[in-house]
Amino acid sequence: MSVNCPVRLNLIFSVLISSSTVVEPTGKPRDYTMNTQQTVLLVGGTGRTGQRVLQQILSRGINVRVIVRSAQKLPTGAAETPNLTVVEADLLSLSNEELQRYIRGCDAVISCLGHVISFKGVFGPPRDLVVRATTRLCRKIEALQPVKPVKFILMSSVSVNHPGGLDARRGMFEKAVLWILRRMVPPAEDNQLAANFLYSSIGMTNPFVQWVAVRPDSLLEGDVSEYTLHEGLVSSLFAPDSTNMANVAHFMCELFANPKAWNDWKGKLPVIINATPSKR
Ligand SMILES: NC(=O)c1ccc[n+]([C@@H]2O[C@H](COP(=O)([O-])OP(=O)(O)OC[C@H]3O[C@@H](n4cnc5c(N)ncnc54)[C@H](OP(=O)(O)O)[C@@H]3O)[C@@H](O)[C@H]2O)c1
Repeated sequence: MSVNCPVRLNLIFSVLISSSTVVEPTGKPRDYTMNTQQTVLLVGGTGRTGQRVLQQILSRGINVRVIVRSAQKLPTGAAETPNLTVVEADLLSLSNEELQRYIRGCDAVISCLGHVISFKGVFGPPRDLVVRATTRLCRKIEALQPVKPVKFILMSSVSVNHPGGLDARRGMFEKAVLWILRRMVPPAEDNQLAANFLYSSIGMTNPFVQWVAVRPDSLLEGDVSEYTLHEGLVSSLFAPDSTNMANVAHFMCELFANPKAWNDWKGKLPVIINATPSKR
């Protein structure tokens, strides 16, 4: 699927945190030149959100490597971009040596992997796609022992609980529904296990990997717009908020390119929602 989502380079936006405290009103074009020598490895770059991440990173002049099952699914024109390297392979089938080769020299790894929304994608193997990919990628980063910690940015979901119990408590009914969901729908369990792995196994003091698990609510099309970031859950699963995929992509790029954003959110599971509720 090709996504035509023009990225406005001189966006005027403000990122709000925990309801309404403005932490980053820029009103100015960003300096997109400062990270030109950096390199990101992106997995899931052919997905709905992943394509937007790819377009936004490329528009910032950052070098990108993508590992995709089919290069034909990349956004139109992306493959011709000089700062993009495409590896056509099944991520989970790559040998350790190959995977390590693609990670070597990367400053960040971004994962927008997810189970394709079809019966086979949701219930077929690999049911543990996200946690397996997350574990492999992080373990390979550790094996490389980079001098500077590599940033690992995972696309997660508001169906994922903060493993440290730092979310506002869900109601009994919501908890029961989630419990059933995790047992019946493999992707729900998979996303939770991936977050648990980052929180418990990679932790906060790992010398080689630092991480953020970004939790959007119901995904929507649309351009980059104002969005808010929250340390914990905001809405119940029964009255969801919405998040433009372009906003998820924008925040992921900010995490990579903006040291302040990284320092604010590393080791956390920010919930990202549109500042203005959408009309559905
Ligand atoms: N839908 C929502 O409202 C929502 C809300 C919040 C969070 N999320 C989470 O956000 C994540 C991304 O969502 P999305 O809708 O952007 O994803 P998506 O469009 O379904 O894309 C999934 C990506 O994962 C890749 N993939 C799937 N199975 C794979 C496998 N076995 N091996 C290698 N790659 C594989 C796909 O590659 P191919 O193109 O080759 O298939 C594609 O690049 C998911 O984890 C989802 O749970 C979704």
